[in-house]
Amino acid sequence: MTELVREKTTLPFNISNIGTPFKLLFTGYLSAIAIGYLMALIQILFTHGMADGKVGLSIEDIVYSYYGNRSGTVLEQKLNGSMKMNASDADRFKIIQWVRDDAPEAEFEKEIKPIIERDCVMCHNEHASSLPNFNDFSAIKKLTEQDHGISYASLTRISHIHLFGISFIFMFVGGIFSLTTINHHRYIKYTAIIMPFLFLLLDISSWWLTKLSPHFAWLVIIGGAGLGFSFAYMWSTSMYQMWFLSRKLGHSDRRNAMYR
Ligand code: HEC
Repeated sequence: MTELVREKTTLPFNISNIGTPFKLLFTGYLSAIAIGYLMALIQILFTHGMADGKVGLSIEDIVYSYYGNRSGTVLEQKLNGSMKMNASDADRFKIIQWVRDDAPEAEFEKEIKPIIERDCVMCHNEHASSLPNFNDFSAIKKLTEQDHGISYASLTRISHIHLFGISFIFMFVGGIFSLTTINHHRYIKYTAIIMPFLFLLLDISSWWLTKLSPHFAWLVIIGGAGLGFSFAYMWSTSMYQMWFLSRKLGHSDRRNAMYR
């Protein structure tokens, strides 16, 4: 018995004896990050999920987002997709016909402009910096050209944001997780810590590959799922060991905690 107690009192610094201030700090961080992750998933459903006009994420959504829908124009796709609710079926049909007739300006003035002014410009105007301004004919005209998916400029921008942002998140999630004890399974721990970075690289590379060829779309799903799995595993192990494992350990251990 005394042996056991002594062994426990010399337990190394780990997440179950780290002391309440650090536990609160880690828990606050992990909770906020989990909500952030959830919001990111909802955001994916809203943007990529609607790319093919149907709710839910599919391979087609990913192909349309990165490679583009080479069988249609952005304006037509959006009118059959996320902008469907903004105009009546008859008006949408009229605009789509006009697009397929190579979008002549004369007909625009006569037939299309009134619909756009009534149904679209309240959002698509010069004040909305991230949306094309439909008071400007050339901005509409550009959307009647074939869709080649995300531009290289946007791809570069979201790639660097994701690489910086996500590695920053996993620096801390992995840092907290490295204080857990996974007895006799240290290779699981090494794998869990390095995995998100490998999946992050896979995820970003797969966007670029899918931009070049639609055959790589499934890699985007694997990269994203791998990231999610790594996150869930490290998150739940850290939370569990912080708040439940310490109760299972003896009092002597808690009394000898490094910081309280
Ligand atoms: C309630 C505000 C709102 C209205 C009304 C609206 N849009 Fe949009 N539109 C958006 C937002 C937000 C986006 C960006 C998100 C997206 O692509 O779904 C967008 C994106 C688009 C895009 C894609 C632009 C791009 O560069 O990829 C097109 C095309 C488009 N809208 C067409 C229309 C048309 C045509 C109408 C009118 C029938 C319309 N929108 C009405 C808010 C609106």
